[in-house]
Amino acid sequence: MDTIDSAAADPFLLLDPELWVITSQSGTTRNAMIATFVMPVSIVPDRRRFVAAIATHHLSHQLLQQSEGCALHLITRDQREWVPRFGIPTGRETDKLAEMKTTTLRSGAPILTDALAAFDCRVVRSWSIGDRELYLLELLESRQFRTGNPLRFREMWNLLGADERSQLGELLLRDQQIDRAAIDNWAGEAGDS
Ligand SMILES: Cc1cc2nc3c(=O)[nH]c(=O)nc-3n(C[C@H](O)[C@H](O)[C@H](O)COP(=O)(O)O)c2cc1C
Repeated sequence: MDTIDSAAADPFLLLDPELWVITSQSGTTRNAMIATFVMPVSIVPDRRRFVAAIATHHLSHQLLQQSEGCALHLITRDQREWVPRFGIPTGRETDKLAEMKTTTLRSGAPILTDALAAFDCRVVRSWSIGDRELYLLELLESRQFRTGNPLRFREMWNLLGADERSQLGELLLRDQQIDRAAIDNWAGEAGDS
């Protein structure tokens, strides 16, 4: 048996989710963010659906509230530099999609044609859970642009340099504080605490 390691100390660390790029557009404002909280939730090939959990303080949340769709992308290790590019700054301060190759499909959200695959989706419904909005997304159409395996969190983390790890670590701590307060506030209002 293995000795106790950090994963055994916190079983949450056993999870190794795919990294997704979520793009959205409302009017002329377009944006992209990184997400791990994206999950397919249908086994029916002609009724593919996903759930995505997006923090309410992100620009992407605002754009999804204003529009009716978004696009989910899987990436490979070749696109690992997209993680700090889309996952650290907010689109409120910079156009994260400048210089990226994009097209559009039915939803109107930017489709990154250098990604591994794109899933163009319509927002069916959403629910607030305090810190995040849960979006039920219906697949409109999908495209695979290259071959390879989807990049997952652990591989991405091992590929990062020390500076990027420290930047992501700081972002995580900041977001944890925002999310904790939002969850407690929401639970208090809902009488769940
Ligand atoms: C590895 C990683 C995973 C992330 N997963 C999520 C997620 O599932 N949901 C979320 O709301 N934010 C997630 N984020 C944070 C956003 O991608 C990040 O804060 C982004 O800059 C928000 O951009 P925006 O304000 O332009 O929308 C993640 C960030 C990283 C680096």
